[in-house]
Amino acid sequence: MIEIIPFTEVDRRPKSPNILMCMWVPLSISLRLTCFLDCLNSLIAMLELFMSAVAVNSPSPLLIAQITDTHLYADAQKELLGLQTSQSFQCVIEQVNALEQRPDLILLTGDLSQDGTAESYERLHTMVSPLAIPTYWLPGNHDCPKTMAQVLTRSPISPQKSFYADPWHIVLLDSSVPGCVHGYLSPESLEWLDQELRQSNDAPALIAFHHPPFLSGSDWMNDIGLLNAEEFFEVCDRHSHVKLVLFGHIHQNFSHQRNQVHYLGTPSTCIQFKPNSVNFALDEEQPGLRLVTLYPDGKWESEVERVVYSCKLDFAAAGY
Ligand SMILES: [Fe+2]
Repeated sequence: MIEIIPFTEVDRRPKSPNILMCMWVPLSISLRLTCFLDCLNSLIAMLELFMSAVAVNSPSPLLIAQITDTHLYADAQKELLGLQTSQSFQCVIEQVNALEQRPDLILLTGDLSQDGTAESYERLHTMVSPLAIPTYWLPGNHDCPKTMAQVLTRSPISPQKSFYADPWHIVLLDSSVPGCVHGYLSPESLEWLDQELRQSNDAPALIAFHHPPFLSGSDWMNDIGLLNAEEFFEVCDRHSHVKLVLFGHIHQNFSHQRNQVHYLGTPSTCIQFKPNSVNFALDEEQPGLRLVTLYPDGKWESEVERVVYSCKLDFAAAGY
């Protein structure tokens, strides 16, 4: 015979009765069902609590915007082969600002100025500041590292060259050589990189510098890449946690893998160079940037974003 427990008694029970209670107290089928649903709700609530605790303690993916080769001038109106570099850069900034997911940090990978003037770097700071995203930089062949170090120091721009974005270790190198178009990493830079990577233990590492350590496929650029790429590779080969290397300089999308490391070249925010060209040639591709998502387990994803910008490019130009 089924014992009917008055409703008021059931109602006075704790909202989340334990399972044993459900098993031992003889109840009607409907009350047993109520009891079971209560237990289930309690379990779901506990599971949600556990999942949120895990989420708080686990780093979430990190979104990086790589912006490169802005080639800004002291004069904001000045054009590079028919393109006003401050205007196309502004388009890129607006695109970053409109992204669904806000980047956690910005990496500026060289040739930030075309004339190396303090005014051009001040403009860079003024244009990047409204984004309020932590921004880091390194010099390219067109830059003046000394002036950059004097101007690009104020928030949100940081002069730091090695930092952690949990759990990733990000290291920025200066591959520029004063008065030269090609790149070179000094023995001191490589020694410092080696030390930094030793200290990061197994944290996945991202390295960035301006010059590509591989041939791009365009003959005219064969002699203007990173001249001592093999010495850089030797350092990388000693640290299996290096995952990704980003660079600029070639004004086009580029991807290559060597051992466990992926190398990504990124379009400029201004003029684009035509891939696989014997001689200097401009491309009709739009200005762009690269987005890189870094996952806590060392995996990553990347895509190139282009902006819509129109101007009358000087396609007859033989250089820049
Ligand atoms: Fe450049």
